[in-house]
Amino acid sequence: GPVICVVGARPNFMKMAPILRALAEHQPAIPAILVHTGQHYDREMNDRLFEDLRLPQPDINLGVGSGSHAVQTAEVMKRFEPVLDDRKPSCVLVVGDVNSTLACTLVGVKKGIPVVHVEAGLRSYDRAMPEEINRVLTDQVADLLYTTERRATSNLQREGISEERIRFCGNVMIDSLLANRQYARSPADTLAAAGVDSAIISEKSGYGVVTMHRPSNVDHPETLESLLTVLREISSDLPLIFALHPRTKSNIDRFGLGHLIDNNRMLILPPQGYLEMLGLLSRARIVLTDSGGLQEETTALGVPCLTMRENTERPITVEQGTNTMVGRNTVLILSEARKILAGNGKSGLVPELWDGQAAKRIASDLFA
Ligand code: UD1
Repeated sequence: GPVICVVGARPNFMKMAPILRALAEHQPAIPAILVHTGQHYDREMNDRLFEDLRLPQPDINLGVGSGSHAVQTAEVMKRFEPVLDDRKPSCVLVVGDVNSTLACTLVGVKKGIPVVHVEAGLRSYDRAMPEEINRVLTDQVADLLYTTERRATSNLQREGISEERIRFCGNVMIDSLLANRQYARSPADTLAAAGVDSAIISEKSGYGVVTMHRPSNVDHPETLESLLTVLREISSDLPLIFALHPRTKSNIDRFGLGHLIDNNRMLILPPQGYLEMLGLLSRARIVLTDSGGLQEETTALGVPCLTMRENTERPITVEQGTNTMVGRNTVLILSEARKILAGNGKSGLVPELWDGQAAKRIASDLFA
């Protein structure tokens, strides 16, 4: 039977694109079915990334949409089960750590269908993070676990997972980054397309990029207010381009914090396509984020990154890459940002096997 490849939310798409390509290019070609759970559905959160990454339209869309974690997870499970009955796959392949990842893993393993997890073993050791729960549970029950860094492999071993189930293969997200770098859209085009006046940004001034959407940062009015305040302060030294996730945008409105981003040194964009974001990141002087993926993408690009979280599940980006953890400590955020702008940021290495070939290694390992 075919491989059922599952995507649900934005950070899944750039991981799955190279895997689908590697399965198609494998000799002999490996049949795959792309299932989209519909967790993300907006044009900005979904369609544009599919176009940019040249992902095929999903064969099946479960259309679950938004909801509480329980409802979202349950709806994915309910709607995914008949797909497995109908298509009789050889295995289910999931990526990352979103609710769709865990939901489809549970359905697969309980039906006795082998489940393959790509980007396994990452741990923040912070169980207040919904993704941490998804990671731990997915890895406990999935059959085959592909890791992006050696620390992830040792995390899994420590959790009692036997060595035969674990393979260090590198980072499929970096496969996408390297394959698409040549198509990245220029920042000027991106800003113009969004109708944003970018006169404030010159070749000499440069700019920084901000993304923020973690519940721990954006769901509490005081936390969101203090983070927006420090970003505003940084923007007086360096214009900041802020790509707003729908959750963050709605909370800024709900908490009445719009005035904090309403100034001409903070350029507010809707969520961006993959090629737009890649272009923005490549030329940024600094990236401030709470995303998982951006920590790795900035390390691969050699761009200094300040991660506004208390912990990271991707420690190699700090140990070897350009990432620095700054938490929600506004004093630290400001001082680390100024250090980078003064030219004293850290430089980094590109981690082992982040070489653009990870998906090929997975395909040939799976179907040797
Ligand atoms: C999800 C992932 C997170 C990932 C993020 C990237 C989980 C637990 N979290 O979080 O790991 O970093 O995606 O974006 O799976 N919404 C829209 N349009 C959409 C999708 C969502 O407007 O296309 C809004 C809805 O109001 C929704 C809210 O965003 O309630 C949150 O969406 P949800 O899928 O629950 O989680 P994310 O915060 O996007």
